[in-house]
Amino acid sequence: MKISIIGTGYVGLTSGTCFAEVGHQVTCVDNNPEKVKTLLDGQVPIYEPGLAELVKSNVAAGRLKFTTSTEEGVRDGDVIFIAVPTPPQPDGSVDLSFIEKVAREIAQCLTPETGYRVIVDKSTVPVKTGDKVEQTVRRYAPEGVEFGVVSNPEFLREGCAVDDLLNPDRIVIGSNDDRALAMMQKIYEPFVAPVLVTDINSAELIKHAANSFLALKISYINAVANICEASGADVEKVAEGIGMDKRIGRAFLNAGLGYGGSCFPKDIKAFIHISEALGQPFGLLKEVESINANQLERFLNKVREKLWVFREKKIALWGLAFKQNTDDVRESVAIKLCQKMLQEGAVVAATDPQGIETAKKFGDLEGDISYHADLYETLDGADALVIGTEWPEFAQADLSEIKKRLRTPLVFDGRNILDPKDAEAAGLEYYSIGR
Ligand code: UDX
Repeated sequence: MKISIIGTGYVGLTSGTCFAEVGHQVTCVDNNPEKVKTLLDGQVPIYEPGLAELVKSNVAAGRLKFTTSTEEGVRDGDVIFIAVPTPPQPDGSVDLSFIEKVAREIAQCLTPETGYRVIVDKSTVPVKTGDKVEQTVRRYAPEGVEFGVVSNPEFLREGCAVDDLLNPDRIVIGSNDDRALAMMQKIYEPFVAPVLVTDINSAELIKHAANSFLALKISYINAVANICEASGADVEKVAEGIGMDKRIGRAFLNAGLGYGGSCFPKDIKAFIHISEALGQPFGLLKEVESINANQLERFLNKVREKLWVFREKKIALWGLAFKQNTDDVRESVAIKLCQKMLQEGAVVAATDPQGIETAKKFGDLEGDISYHADLYETLDGADALVIGTEWPEFAQADLSEIKKRLRTPLVFDGRNILDPKDAEAAGLEYYSIGR
């Protein structure tokens, strides 16, 4: 199939590359000439395991190309995916101006001679956006243009985006247009995954409802963790016991500092806003948000209680990225933790396997902070080790080396990645979440 993707961010670039990988002919469009140049030079502007190799091999095979021209995209793709940002506005609602702009641009490139086109929304959007896209294209395209509109939400996780795209749990295709649905099913034929076909509104809603449910699971276990702490139970055991029930499942029951990243915080806010706009306020999600925000404060209090004051204390901070296997620091709880400690006068020696450069650029970290590629170096003379991100490298760290290098052997594990027994056996005074 001939596919175009408008927007080469995380979702657009990985989706386009994976469509090329399964044999489709893909044109990726981005209005940022520098980004397109970088991609044409064979470089990938984001860190995503396996992506750079796939971009290279598919460009070489002639299945993947990059351009700044929407016109070229509309000409070359029978199916045009919109994968542009849908950032939050101050009131939590979704800014759809990029989607609207792209819909107008596509419309203006269409002519009755172009032939039938499918316009697919891949960005996360509020329910009923598809109707608006259809209306906009109809309004701005010349008479006689034929097109169908589809919602095809993306469920990829950063850090395993390529695998999530090539081996998804499910593919959701929503449209009220049979011709468009048939073309979409053809695109997904090479993928071994169940395909759920729905009306357009349901497909749009699935994305917000799924992400909110996952965030709910995280806040749920964090609230349980706090009860565990107060009662002397172990949240890891409790999560295991709950998770063994097939109806619940163990995934996303890892207690810690809470969720961050570019999706969950914004999607939960958006869903709250959508529910209110529809006159069906989803109060439960407000509680999810408040539990999430409290996790960081509770953890900081735990550190404060042991250190007494942060001022002039040297803290080794392991973790800057919002989770493991990514360099992304957007809405990272580890970054928020770092900001708070710096504000209170701590001297922070930070490390992260991928997030140092992004933290320097986007972390808004002001104060006495140094960055170290070597995690053990951060510990020299430090008063405490604080873990903010669940990197496997940290979980596998040499505990006796931690003990040797710290000035005082205090360890605060905000992601429950170390074993409390091992930590204590190594002579560390170890604190974690809910155990
Ligand atoms: C998420 C969804 O998983 C994905 O389907 C959607 O398309 C985009 O949003 P992502 O933002 O990449 O993906 O991160 P994810 O792996 O889901 O983790 C989100 C946050 O939750 C991280 O900050 C992580 O540390 C935290 N988390 C996750 C927990 O605190 N506990 C858990 O058990 C799982």
